[in-house]
Amino acid sequence: MIKIAPSILSADFARLGEDIESVRLGGADYLHFDVMDGLFVPNISIGIPVLESVRKSTDMVLDVHLMIQQPIRYVKEFARAGADIINIHVEADTEEATARAIELIKLTGSRAAVTIKPKTPAEAALPFIKDVSLILVMTVEPGFGGQGFMDDMLPKVKILRQYIDRLNPVCEMEVDGGINPQTAAQAAASGADVFVAGNAIFRAADRAAKIAEIRKYAEDARYGTGTV
Ligand code: DX5
Ligand code: ZN
Repeated sequence: MIKIAPSILSADFARLGEDIESVRLGGADYLHFDVMDGLFVPNISIGIPVLESVRKSTDMVLDVHLMIQQPIRYVKEFARAGADIINIHVEADTEEATARAIELIKLTGSRAAVTIKPKTPAEAALPFIKDVSLILVMTVEPGFGGQGFMDDMLPKVKILRQYIDRLNPVCEMEVDGGINPQTAAQAAASGADVFVAGNAIFRAADRAAKIAEIRKYAEDARYGTGTV
């Protein structure tokens, strides 16, 4: 099933509640929440107090993407603040600490996910594939919205689709960075099913129409004739 996850990094933070409501009404499936610490990525964004407020204001599924070093230090706090899905980067700590962080996330009742950066091979997700409910493949270098989609990530998406089908078929595969209807179709044809989009949705004149368009392009490419 295709899911659309608007990234609030591209929202107007002074009008965050209204922006979130616009994508909820527009049919979005998840709300993507980007957390940056200025160390793991060269930018700083939003964190726990904002997540708490967002949690109180919406019942949407909150997909929290932690671009922070040693995320195990904070997973409990993000779970307590209301994250439904907690995404941690495999590059952010040792393999052992990442495995422990995944266990901890699941103990809190949140869904665990791992994320891989563009230069990280698909195989880096393999030690965790049976223990997570989602794998996120970055299709830009993390840190900023509004970058161009890296189509050289498509072979990696394809490889991960094969691993997921073989080892944990209920696991979702998400792509994040430079997603618009056309790039969503490319990623869907390679096997992605969850599409994060910041600029494409929040800068659109009609957000509901943009969400529907991304969904249609992705669905046609993934399940349809493949002619998109
Ligand atoms: C980048 C973030 C993305 C970002 C995507 O580090 O992880 O979620 O908001 O923005 P767009 O869709 O504009 O590339
Ligand atoms: Zn993200």
